[in-house]
Amino acid sequence: MKKLLILVALFSSTFTLANGKIVEGRKKVEQVCQSCHGLDGQGIDDTYPKLAGQFADYMVKALSDYKSGARKNAIMSGFAASLSEQDMENVAAYYASLTSDRLHDLTIK
Ligand code: HEC
Repeated sequence: MKKLLILVALFSSTFTLANGKIVEGRKKVEQVCQSCHGLDGQGIDDTYPKLAGQFADYMVKALSDYKSGARKNAIMSGFAASLSEQDMENVAAYYASLTSDRLHDLTIK
């Protein structure tokens, strides 16, 4: 029983942590990213990559590569430069959470 409780506690704290990142990430996306990638992560048109449901690790890597210059893009390097590592994890958690089923649950303005 004790083991079970510990497991439940561990699991729920990981869950809360993940949710916190998503909430913070959404705020950042509203301020900075939505004008191109959309709040729903679909991209406002074909010029902008869709990010909804993309792997979080992939997005964190892409963003840090834009910031370091390992990946070059005139538009994204500017935006990535303004993000901390924590911001990158947050926005990536937010966009990764937008799988096609979950889109229905989110009230997108
Ligand atoms: C002014 C428009 C614009 C804004 C604002 C913008 N992006 Fe981008 N983003 C782009 C474009 C264009 C690309 C494609 C660049 C390339 O070819 O490398 C891109 C690429 C990306 C990629 C890589 C996608 C892939 O499939 O490899 C990620 C991740 C990303 N953006 C995240 C973000 C985040 C997070 C923000 C907000 C902090 C943001 N972008 C803000 C235009 C924008």
